This record gives sequence, structure tokens and C-alpha cells, in this order.
Amino acid sequence: MTRSQKTEVQARFGATAEAYVRSAGHAGGPDLERLVAWGRSTGASRLLDIATGGGHTALAFSAFTPTVVATDLTEPMLLAARAFASGQGMTTIRFLGADVEALPFRDAAFGAVTCRIAAHHFPAVPPALKQVARVLLPGGTFLLQDILGHEDPELAGFILEVEKRRDPSHVRALSQAKWVEHLRTAGFTGLEEAVVTKGRPWEEWTGRMRMTAEARAALDRFVLEAPARCREAFSFTVEEGRIRAFTDRMLLIRAHKSY
Ligand SMILES: C[S@@+](CC[C@H](N)C(=O)[O-])C[C@H]1O[C@@H](n2cnc3c(N)ncnc32)[C@H](O)[C@@H]1O
Repeated sequence: MTRSQKTEVQARFGATAEAYVRSAGHAGGPDLERLVAWGRSTGASRLLDIATGGGHTALAFSAFTPTVVATDLTEPMLLAARAFASGQGMTTIRFLGADVEALPFRDAAFGAVTCRIAAHHFPAVPPALKQVARVLLPGGTFLLQDILGHEDPELAGFILEVEKRRDPSHVRALSQAKWVEHLRTAGFTGLEEAVVTKGRPWEEWTGRMRMTAEARAALDRFVLEAPARCREAFSFTVEEGRIRAFTDRMLLIRAHKSY
């Protein structure tokens, strides 16, 4: 029997929680800096970070936000994130188990909500956005970052296969146009968008998900045998037949819940 999407998420991230806490790509970069700059300008006093993973976004926002609540579906991830935040001297973030589709908060409880590099794991985006809109104050800010989906079908199919082979809990990466459509439908306005690139060192990126040697070898073969335009589109670097790195594009969106 195939595991449900959420069970798959818990299995994958439960086994790799420590690696996510240590991941340099999650700990910082121009993407997190942009979210933080947007966040500072909101002046929100209560922030919810959904799908907090290793807790890096929650930690960054706690430097200037009095109340930060961080939620995630995966219990070991929350334990690792809590220990990480405490180790950084930040003991005020409240970590809580919660599915994004059933957030255990009253309506209009937060001035800002963040969701960074996680929505590609959600079974569906509209129910998640409905919850985000519900827990935000009217006029409140939603800061989203996720892997940007490609508009070109061949390139989109190629990178989806790469992602799913590495992590079967990856569902899809939406295009910019699709995100804008979903956000507007959920009642968000005043959208501001940015795209930044993020380097993915191959050994670290594949290693973090603890692939078997066979699955990793098959993934390498899939990439190396793909049409050259696929590798070029994601700036794959290959030296002496070995994949070294590639580049993801990240979509960042600032949106406001309408009054
Ligand atoms: C890559 S990590 C997130 C990284 C983190 N936000 C950061 O800024 O470093 C993805 C996280 O999404 C969580 N997740 C996936 N599906 C979820 C869901 N339906 N509800 C809540 N969390 C979910 C996983 O458990 C995992 O911890």
C-alpha cells in the first residue's frame, strides 16, 4: 500500500531532521534576507511560521518579533528545531505540531505568517492558503518562499522527476502565475514578487535525504542522460562525469490579507 502524502512527509523529514537544522541553504542566504527585510517592515508583533523545518525562519524573525509560534507536521523536526533555537539562546519561540490544513489557532490571531521552502510538500495549496488567510488579521502579511516551477513542460517534467527521485514527499513546484492565481483566490492583495537563485551542492543536497546508493546512482544516470537543455536550464555542473551542483530558482511573494 502506498503511504499517504503526509505520512511520507513525516517519514522523510523525521529521519533527516538534524540534517535540516545543519543545512547551510536553509540557515540563510539572500532569500531569507529578503523575507526578513519584508518582515521587519510589517511591524507585526505576533508571527506564525508554518512548516518551520529546522526553525531557521522562525529564529530569524524572533530577533525582532515579540511572539513567534512555529508549527510543523513532523514531531522530530520540531524537537530538533526547538533544541537548535535554544542552543542559539532563543527560548521564547513556541514550537507546536500542526498540519497546515488544520491550524489550531483562532481567526485573525497573527499579524504575519511565513512559509519558506515547504509548500511543494503540501498535498494541495488552496486549503493551506485558506488556513493562512483565516489566522491572519485583516491587512496582515503573508510571506511565502517556494521552489519556482518551470513554465516549459519538458524542463518542469525533468526537475519534478529529479526532486521526486530524491524525495518522494515532493509533490510539485507551482509557476509564478499559478501562485498569484491561488493567492488572489484566497483573498490576498498587494502582491509583490521576487525570484532569487539558490545553489544546490549535489552531494549535500542528495545526501541530506539519505537516498540508498542504488537510488542515488539511478538519479545521477537520469540527470546525466537527460537532454542537455534540461541540465543547462538548472545550471547543472558536471566534472569528469560527476554531478557537482545545480541551481534552483526560488519564488518569494509578499501578500496582504484583504480588509
Ligand atoms: C524544507 S522544510 C522547511 C524549511 C523551513 N521552513 C526553513 O525556513 O528552513 C519542509 C518542512 O515542511 C513540513 N511539512 C510538510 N508538509 C506539511 C504539512 N502539511 N503541514 C505542516 N508542515 C508540513 C515538513 O515536516 C518539513 O519540516
